[in-house]
Amino acid sequence: MTQDEKKRAVAHAAVEYALEHLDADSIVGVGTGSTVNYFIDALADKKQLFEGAVSSSDASTERLKKHGIDVYDLNEVSSFDIYVDGADEITEHMHMIKGGGAALTREKIVAAVAKTFVCIVDDSKVVPVLGKYPLPVEVIPLARSYVAREIVKLGGDPVYREGCITDNGNVILDVHNLTILEPSKLESEINQITGVVTNGIFARRAADVALVADENGVQRLNSN
Ligand code: A5P
Repeated sequence: MTQDEKKRAVAHAAVEYALEHLDADSIVGVGTGSTVNYFIDALADKKQLFEGAVSSSDASTERLKKHGIDVYDLNEVSSFDIYVDGADEITEHMHMIKGGGAALTREKIVAAVAKTFVCIVDDSKVVPVLGKYPLPVEVIPLARSYVAREIVKLGGDPVYREGCITDNGNVILDVHNLTILEPSKLESEINQITGVVTNGIFARRAADVALVADENGVQRLNSN
């Protein structure tokens, strides 16, 4: 199975999982990325079974609308059950690195409102310890160099993502050479640096369920 086939398989499994928890009045939270794109495409076939979506990026909003799925402003939605999103890395504790697609801040906000975070990945994303994948940090443009210097003090090696402006008008530093043994602690420490909007560690709001595609099909992992 190629990685793309695994992404497609896990996306279809996520649609089945979501439909078990949705009804005609439900809003579904939709993440961002290539795995989620398969999810959106598969979800479109079932759009008569739920009310609409809230989205974590302009790209996902556009794709949802193209399929005729109504997209609601998160401010109009006080709660919803299921948020489906990919990840760049995930551990058995359901901690993740996200933001490879630069959508981390809106993803974190939508995930905060959702009752259940369903992470969909292929098995290459499952790691024992976070940090091999460079950690994305969204930064106010004026603060870029200051934040980079502060991150060096924390032991990271920040690299400015050239040519990338987030949906919020900010820039991304990708932090290399981190071994993230205490994800919640580092998530808070980086978020305390003035000028950081948020960072791509999702530990304080980890996933509740992970659907992982491997050669044998799709496995479901639940948080303890
Ligand atoms: C987007 O900013 C990310 O958080 C994605 O969820 C993550 O990068 C996974 O993307 P893929 O499904 O494209 O690997």
